[in-house]
Amino acid sequence: MATAELTGKHLVLGMSGGIACYKIAELTRLLTKADATVQVVMTEAATQFITPVTMQALSGRPVYTSQWDARVPNNMAHIDLSREADAIVIAPASTDFLAKLAHGMADDLLATLCVARDCPLLVVPAMNRQMWQNPATQRNVAQLRADGIEVLGPDSGPQACGEVGDGRMLEAAATYEAIASFFQPKILAGRRVLLTAGPTFEPLDPVRGITNRSSGKMGFALARAAQQAGADVHLIAGPVALETPWGVIREDVQTAQQMHDAVMRAVPDYDVFIGVAAVADWRVDHISDHKIKKTAERAIPAFNFVENPDILAAVAKLPHPPYCVGFAAESGDLDVHGEEKRVRKNVPLLIGNLGPLTFGLDDNEVVLFEASGATKLPRADKRTLAGALIAEIAKRLPDTSLIR
Ligand SMILES: Cc1cc2nc3c(=O)[nH]c(=O)nc-3n(C[C@H](O)[C@H](O)[C@H](O)COP(=O)(O)O)c2cc1C
Repeated sequence: MATAELTGKHLVLGMSGGIACYKIAELTRLLTKADATVQVVMTEAATQFITPVTMQALSGRPVYTSQWDARVPNNMAHIDLSREADAIVIAPASTDFLAKLAHGMADDLLATLCVARDCPLLVVPAMNRQMWQNPATQRNVAQLRADGIEVLGPDSGPQACGEVGDGRMLEAAATYEAIASFFQPKILAGRRVLLTAGPTFEPLDPVRGITNRSSGKMGFALARAAQQAGADVHLIAGPVALETPWGVIREDVQTAQQMHDAVMRAVPDYDVFIGVAAVADWRVDHISDHKIKKTAERAIPAFNFVENPDILAAVAKLPHPPYCVGFAAESGDLDVHGEEKRVRKNVPLLIGNLGPLTFGLDDNEVVLFEASGATKLPRADKRTLAGALIAEIAKRLPDTSLIR
């Protein structure tokens, strides 16, 4: 994990008894790789599913399982262990443990830690679908939410018991994302952000086409950062092989025309539009309905091109446009082309990068162009840069942008 979003955070990772304990080994790796410190506390039942030895080796700290553990000098592990914590995360959170939490019970070390805490509490439920749907569990979860406890998931799908439905624990990577998101300032709370990302693919025939080298990494990182900042995020993506950021609604398209149509359908519901996709300027005027054959007699094919719609300009031209942010990838003279493009597209903010040099890379260097001048942001990995760009965009949003 190349970003500093969890650097220095201290988490108490509380494990209760369920099959999903196996996912916590991976979660612990992800958290420690992100430079968080992880103090594992396990219920008696959790130690039946995965050993404290494994969890100690992965977290690099002794694991606590009993409130009668004499290793804590004052014998008050139930208070001391969470004193320095930025949050307690219960993963997996069993049906039983959710019930205990909802009733403020304190009959083992982990439950007592939660009652005695002075920090946020996040729970990641994991159980069979009938246990999840049980009215008692639903009552307990509603009570936990009312008490200000964050409930992450659960997911839906095949379960260890062979059934299919709601209740399975989020995967380790999604749990990591949800925890990272929890710690980010909610500077876009209440905002709705629509983004495009990736290249487009313009077919020539059923098997060939023209595309470009945009990887989609910058747009996906921005979607992730906007979600973490508290926005509702809708990402319209060209053909890329990237995981959908946690909590983001994704719509896949292929061509510039499809991307244009998807954006125009969605945009009335959004306050902010960020056009990051590298949209093809042209497409062929006629797509062959069969594969164009290479034969001895046939000449090398020639194609006529027609212009694709300009998505950013079309959004900016709407009678009540959202706050529009464009991206420009230039191979030279960025200072001239960046501001010229911003004015031509009629958008308040245009983010310029030296595109062909950054396509596919994990880091980037950008310049912000706006009417008051140009500002360069320091080179950073795309996730860190995305966080910085979202902060810059948030600063510039008009207060009235929710009322369109
Ligand atoms: C094989 C097996 C799998 C289990 N899986 C789950 C589970 O996924 N979720 C759950 O809530 N309980 C599960 N249980 C039941 C809990 O382990 C049991 O309720 C236990 O008392 C929980 O204790 P704790 O909340 O103190 O950790 C499972 C039990 C067994 C034997």
